[in-house]
Amino acid sequence: MSEDKKIIFSGIQPSGFVTLGNYLGALNNWTKLQDEYNCLYCIADLHTITVRQEPAKFRKTARELLMQYIAVGLDPEINIMYYQSHVHQHAELSWILSCFTYMGELQRMTQFKEKSQKHSDNINAGLFTYPVLMASDILLYQTDLVPVGEDQRQHLEITREIANRFNKLYGDVFKIPEAYIGKVGARVMALQDPAKKMSKSDENKNNTIAIMDSPDVIMSKFKKAVTDSENEVRMSEDKPGVSNLLNIYCAVTGYTVEQAEKEFSSSGYGDFKKAVGEAVVAKLEPIQKKFHDLENNKDYIDSIIKNNTERASYLAERTLSKVKKKIGFTPKVR
Ligand code: TRP
Repeated sequence: MSEDKKIIFSGIQPSGFVTLGNYLGALNNWTKLQDEYNCLYCIADLHTITVRQEPAKFRKTARELLMQYIAVGLDPEINIMYYQSHVHQHAELSWILSCFTYMGELQRMTQFKEKSQKHSDNINAGLFTYPVLMASDILLYQTDLVPVGEDQRQHLEITREIANRFNKLYGDVFKIPEAYIGKVGARVMALQDPAKKMSKSDENKNNTIAIMDSPDVIMSKFKKAVTDSENEVRMSEDKPGVSNLLNIYCAVTGYTVEQAEKEFSSSGYGDFKKAVGEAVVAKLEPIQKKFHDLENNKDYIDSIIKNNTERASYLAERTLSKVKKKIGFTPKVR
């Protein structure tokens, strides 16, 4: 990592496949940050076990997530992409910082309230201390900027709070991170219900496109996407379905909305939806090909995992050892 570049840190949970929404909204933009910043992307598998996972499926999903990162164009020799569970410093700092976080603060977290409602049969302590682990992820790397969605804003806020509290007691140990407000990606909505965001956890599979969906599946999902009764391809607030499809089309082709509206000015919805589907298939084709190549190259992926874990661990240890020293833990005897 070059010292003169700012550090960007983000994480994604390996809790399912990568959606077209994740890709157009986040990953595709991340590929453009790799020259200007030092970027770390953590596969946040420790966070994922706050909800029960089936072991074999969990392992497969996590492995595939890394391959999808690489397939969309995140260069694993420039960016540091690694598994949170491979870098023990995350869990260790998380314990330490939990002693600098108040119950009341955690109780106020919107996501905790929501998740404990949704998983009322399993309100475990990890679900409660989840933001402390996330703070540790970010603070371990002296992160300057965190690209976060709306849903994670509050977690970044508490991270800053914890870091400031610690620094006040012990001096300047942690860099205080800020939200990365860059070029925002496309906000992709559910195909059958364009009032809500496209989400990998959606029960209606027709709402979501996975970047690894086959061309047939993609075409059929776009064919079924909701529109409206007008048969006019135009961006408008009262045409959420059509607007969402236009947004997707523009994001994958690079056309402006005006260009796209013009292109479809004499098309019906059937032709329009087919064109959007085809554009998405074309955009994803090289990504899928790269993914399948990586699937057949186990040694390469293993070497990436090994190498990136080492890079991350080195940086994490620098911060953790400083934290331990400041707190007053007895130094190890060598
Ligand atoms: N909690 C985040 C999510 O579910 C994932 C995450 C873990 C993360 N650690 C992070 C995001 C650190 C940003 C920074 O989306």
